[in-house]
Amino acid sequence: MLYGADYNPDQWPEEVWDEDVRLMQEAGVNIVSLGIFAWSRIQPAEDVWDFAWLDTVIDKLHAGGIQVNLATATASPPPWVSATYPETLPVDESGASYWPGSRQHFAPSSPTYRRLAGELVRRLAERYAQHPAVVMWHVGNEFGCHLWMDFSDAARDAYRDWLTKRYGTIDALNAAWGTSFWSQTYGAFHEIFPPRLAPYSHNPSSMLDWRRFTSDMLLECYLAEREILLAAGATQPITTNFMGPFKPADYRRWAPHMDVIADDCYPDPANPHRIRDAAFQRDLIRSLKPGVPWMLWEQATDAVNWRPGNPGKRPGVLMAETAQSIARGADGIMFFQWRQSRAGSEKFHSAMLPHAGTSTRTWGAVTELGARLAALGDLPAPGRDAQVALVFDWENWWAVEERDHPTEIDYLALTLEWYGAFHDRGIQVDIIAPEDAGTGYDLVVAPVLYLLREEGASAIARFVEDGGTLVTGPFTDIVDEHDQFRTGGFLTLLGDVVGLRYEDFGALAGESSGGSGVGALSADATQAARAAAARGTASFSFDGASYSGRLVAESVHATGATILAAFTTGLQAGSAAITRNRFGAGEAWYVATQPDHDALAAVVEALVSASGVRPVVGDLPTGVEAARRGDLVTLINHGDDPALVAVSGTDAETGAAVAQVPLEPQGVAFILSPVEALSARAESFAGATNR
Ligand code: GLA
Repeated sequence: MLYGADYNPDQWPEEVWDEDVRLMQEAGVNIVSLGIFAWSRIQPAEDVWDFAWLDTVIDKLHAGGIQVNLATATASPPPWVSATYPETLPVDESGASYWPGSRQHFAPSSPTYRRLAGELVRRLAERYAQHPAVVMWHVGNEFGCHLWMDFSDAARDAYRDWLTKRYGTIDALNAAWGTSFWSQTYGAFHEIFPPRLAPYSHNPSSMLDWRRFTSDMLLECYLAEREILLAAGATQPITTNFMGPFKPADYRRWAPHMDVIADDCYPDPANPHRIRDAAFQRDLIRSLKPGVPWMLWEQATDAVNWRPGNPGKRPGVLMAETAQSIARGADGIMFFQWRQSRAGSEKFHSAMLPHAGTSTRTWGAVTELGARLAALGDLPAPGRDAQVALVFDWENWWAVEERDHPTEIDYLALTLEWYGAFHDRGIQVDIIAPEDAGTGYDLVVAPVLYLLREEGASAIARFVEDGGTLVTGPFTDIVDEHDQFRTGGFLTLLGDVVGLRYEDFGALAGESSGGSGVGALSADATQAARAAAARGTASFSFDGASYSGRLVAESVHATGATILAAFTTGLQAGSAAITRNRFGAGEAWYVATQPDHDALAAVVEALVSASGVRPVVGDLPTGVEAARRGDLVTLINHGDDPALVAVSGTDAETGAAVAQVPLEPQGVAFILSPVEALSARAESFAGATNR
């Protein structure tokens, strides 16, 4: 188990470095991410290089038994770069420059930025690739975190090249973007601009490509640095830090280029769904490289500085949140940062070593955590632990949230609602692409799969045909990979699978449409329309109870499906709200609205029972979270009351045999409990609830 933090010794005089190493040892730290923002210290001017201080720090760490995750230091160009090469600065959609003075002020597609960053990485790699302390490479930092869209001339040129490679001919691009609409037909690639400020909606197909392009540009920055490291003979794992479900970067496309997946996660103490949302993030991250443990590169020991209000963590929460990462596949627990800064924007951000010193609650929590992680030792790799897969797809995210749709959908929020219904039941979930639906799950959940690629549809259809249970809808199988309707209406790929014909979207709205109906919508009217749309609901009855759904009440007609629930209000009264269809050896459910919380719970309960899905541990007390990675079951009591959980196995920290695990509030237990023993119990639990 790796334990440590970002380490920024360049912010401190040399006298502090020895104390740092001594205290790191005291806290159980065995790895640090070094020099992430040290470019200006390493290269204070274009032709001046200073590695002496870095040599000293690395040697001190090595002598102290602390391993180094060496940063390539390219995330914040020094002032001389911006002053000498203004073409490296990014530009916003209205043509205004972003200026230096913060960080990440570089245009990802700027050839000059890439050249200068490349030279820095080459020198670092040549100097340290063989250093025995360096065990990993930390490329850049949170690519795109603050600035993910650059509309500069560098971006314009790179975009034209990217489109030329993608489409080959301008005719192919015109067809893919449907440019005969609104006189947008291009005569050549050099007529295309990034989607800079325009009077009204940009072409949605072009926006989808722009999103793909901006994700690719950030990835290219990473790949360019990776190539340089490899060329210099680096043999250590190379990766960069992800940010969970981060919309601008399609991490599923990035993942194959990462030797290990690393993630940064800062659960918001004020978020009532903090535990659910963090669990989803960790499951997403684990699922990016199935079977391979990942690393948490950044979390906060206590408060952050960047939300409007920044409360600290309640006692025990640090351990509980850490355990959630381990439970869901992490083999490394790290923080931003080792020593709290005394200057700069992040001086109010917590750290492992607070500015107030070691006589602090935080230092106590940090050393205790270090000791517990050391006691854990090696843990089993994540296994094939989930029976349920939840489809979450970046291209679909981008497309479904484009404007001018029947209703506005927050794809991540909606995905989290579905995830939460399984999380509430202690059911483990993998997060997958539609294309991965076939790989051995019992239940695939694919909400709002608006943009559906053919390969994704085939995998989903095969999955059902082979005996799996699918639930999908609403607003699913509407467009192709260019965000165009397919010929033949909607549900053109999955219609047979769900046994439905799709007639209309049935967007719901509250009492005000927000617009006068004449002229352009004012900003205020748009706001009002948004609020009204969010209030719109439709009722339906399911399993003898009445429920409501929101966003849409679609008009769908059963061509083979059984109608399980029908709308009771609105335009679609009497028409199908939830359906179930046999297809091959499996079955496909369709929901024609977004079920509200109670309705979702009822639908998920029915799906769980139809598909034979079991929770990780049966009979979990309220507030207790359980997750499995191979033979390891982790139990976390997020509740306010003590709990007792029946799991038999061996306590991974103490080696003691256990059958009943007591958990204090925020208490955590790691139990080695082989899969067979657990599923036998889970079977009987599932049987009991089904009755
Ligand atoms: C991000 C960055 C860090 C730091 C933290 C603060 O994760 O990568 O450098 O700014 O946020 O929470």
